[in-house]
Amino acid sequence: MKRILSGVQATGKIHIGNYFGAIKQFVDLGKDNDAYYMIADLHSITTVQDKEELKENIFDVALDYLALGIDPEKSVIFRQSQIPAHTDLTWIFNCITTMPYLMRAHAFKDAEAKAKEVNVGLFDYPVLMASDILLYSPDLVPVGKDQKQHVEYARDIAEKFNRIYGDTFKLPEEYILQDVAIVAGIDGRKMSKSYGNHIPLFAERNEIEKLVMSIVTDSKTPEETKSTEGDTLFTLHSLVSDKETLDKVRTGYENGGLGYGETKKMLVESMDSFIAPLREKRRELVKDRDYVLGVLEEGANKARNVARLKMQEVKEKIGLILE
Ligand code: TYM
Repeated sequence: MKRILSGVQATGKIHIGNYFGAIKQFVDLGKDNDAYYMIADLHSITTVQDKEELKENIFDVALDYLALGIDPEKSVIFRQSQIPAHTDLTWIFNCITTMPYLMRAHAFKDAEAKAKEVNVGLFDYPVLMASDILLYSPDLVPVGKDQKQHVEYARDIAEKFNRIYGDTFKLPEEYILQDVAIVAGIDGRKMSKSYGNHIPLFAERNEIEKLVMSIVTDSKTPEETKSTEGDTLFTLHSLVSDKETLDKVRTGYENGGLGYGETKKMLVESMDSFIAPLREKRRELVKDRDYVLGVLEEGANKARNVARLKMQEVKEKIGLILE
């Protein structure tokens, strides 16, 4: 049994990339491990600054986790903002982390390159994430490839702390499944809310249809042979279609005879069949707000106990506890 920790930001509706790249692994690993899954609501205020939107986003992630099958009897589901140790430890880590080191983070460099306004929270994002992880001493952190550097930062920060103050933090490993490390969006780039190329996981059929039909392809005719390698349509089929449909697409691509239009129509069918039961389960959960809030409260109590113990050890190590 391993300790698992991961999280999702509360920044809007989750998409197919979040699910296959990360949350599906949360569900699978949660079955026989000691797992902690956060709603990263403090990370999301680096960008979301509307009260009602934030509240809705937070509740949405809780619904998503439950609808997708994370079992709160087995895994701890909690909100980052309910555990003060996350921000306490961030301050302590800030004092051993240099600015040039944080300036090398991809997310910061991206924001700089786009001349975006970078608030201090956004700059410090990797440090808060290191605290999220290290407080719970996980063996594995399931994430998509875009978060790999953040887990490396957590490892570096843990090593540095251990070097200065003595062995305190376990070094975490990222858990990334290669086939879904980067799920592509409808324009072929990494699926991302910020690129606006995403397919929401709980989309209704008409929305799925609109998005799938707009997936960018080359201009090959139905008769021409096509490569499955790196093809967005084929990759999405491999995630949501049954074996029979997937075989049909593969054969049609390799031998020619299947056009992109037809492939898209089949994808709409597969995706809708895949999403329909999840949508249904989520709709049921929406009706039971008290249950969902109860899960978060109970999760926070469990997480708080683990985090508090680690914080006590940290404070002791750095000289913040007087005997
Ligand atoms: P977030 O909310 O952006 O994304 C949640 C998870 O989805 C993965 N993901 C993808 N995987 C494959 N293909 C894609 N196109 C794709 N898009 C997103 C992400 O890699 C992520 O695993 N910083 C984190 C949240 C966080 C966290 C943590 C994660 C805060 N604290 C501690 C792990 C441990 C984030 O913004 O994820």
